[in-house]
Amino acid sequence: MFRKKTIRDIDVQGKVVLVRVDYNVPMRDGRVAEDMRIRASLPTLNYLLDHGAKKLILISHLGRPKGEVNPEFSLAPVAEALDTLLPNHTVNFVDAFVGDKVRDAVDNLSESGILLLENLRFSPLEEENSRELAQAIIEDTRAELFVQDGFAVIHRAHASTDAIAHVLPAVAGFLVENEVTKLEQTLDNPEHPLLVIIGGAKVADKEPLIERFLPLADQIAVGGKIAADGYTASSDKIYVANDFRENDLGAKLDIGPNSTDTIVSFIQNAKTIVWNGALGLVEEAPFAKSSRAVAEAMGSSGAFTIIGGGDTAAFVQQVLRDNSNLQYSLISTGGGASLELLSGKKLPGLEILQDRN
Ligand code: 3PG
Repeated sequence: MFRKKTIRDIDVQGKVVLVRVDYNVPMRDGRVAEDMRIRASLPTLNYLLDHGAKKLILISHLGRPKGEVNPEFSLAPVAEALDTLLPNHTVNFVDAFVGDKVRDAVDNLSESGILLLENLRFSPLEEENSRELAQAIIEDTRAELFVQDGFAVIHRAHASTDAIAHVLPAVAGFLVENEVTKLEQTLDNPEHPLLVIIGGAKVADKEPLIERFLPLADQIAVGGKIAADGYTASSDKIYVANDFRENDLGAKLDIGPNSTDTIVSFIQNAKTIVWNGALGLVEEAPFAKSSRAVAEAMGSSGAFTIIGGGDTAAFVQQVLRDNSNLQYSLISTGGGASLELLSGKKLPGLEILQDRN
């Protein structure tokens, strides 16, 4: 069960609500290229407005502008994308997150209007977890309540994920509740057999995940560059892919058909499946074959299926565009956040939220 208070547990009627979303979305030519994270925030925004919230002030980061104002990382195009997704509400944008511009924008916002503030990482104070910045945002927006719904950034202790929740009453939105509940379920109460599929490039990133799942899982399958680089299994529970598709220069860029078949047969026997990390170079179609086969087998398995965020989630979204019948229990919006949660680490942005009594 989710151990934190959510927006269901509080009265939002007539309140100005500050919502931390993660709108760190891919951009192309100044427009939003992929809107999964924006869509994922809609249930919380709609609920708050349907339950009488007076105004919603949204805060987010975009990219890593390193504490400097950089128009390339402005959230203005995201406000436009959100406006299209919420045809019954006004979505405004202001190119500041503190100061008179913000005060005026909040004053001018209509009842049940939404205001997106500019990229918080235009100030170094955001990543420094500054209490002053948190306080200034709260004062200038006149927010009365904080809702954390940016699952993908919940592993960071920043002003907008930690400091702010020391000042305002802070609860979780539905995205955070849904992702944390499903990810924790795979650690605390999985239906067996539990299969964990690990890919990706950096073994150091995935080692904590393998360690964490070793006592819990019935089978762990390792593919991707990690396997191609010669990962050695420390337990007979761990299967390491052992044939590979190569390019003309002999580089091993995907796991081969035999290893793919073996992993697909594990999938067919599993009741819970967690997948984190592409099994090959999915950006190039000839080397996306094993990842596609795994995505398709998982999506039609009927098991409880978790797709880790980041590249794996982006790839599965692509597969879903070709075959919308595939179903997954969770496609996480958070790469680092889901990896840290599944590796057993505490997430600062979650810990700081009010506990359920
Ligand atoms: C992500 O994309 O994983 C989150 O938005 C966090 O971004 P960060 O790694 O730059 O903190």
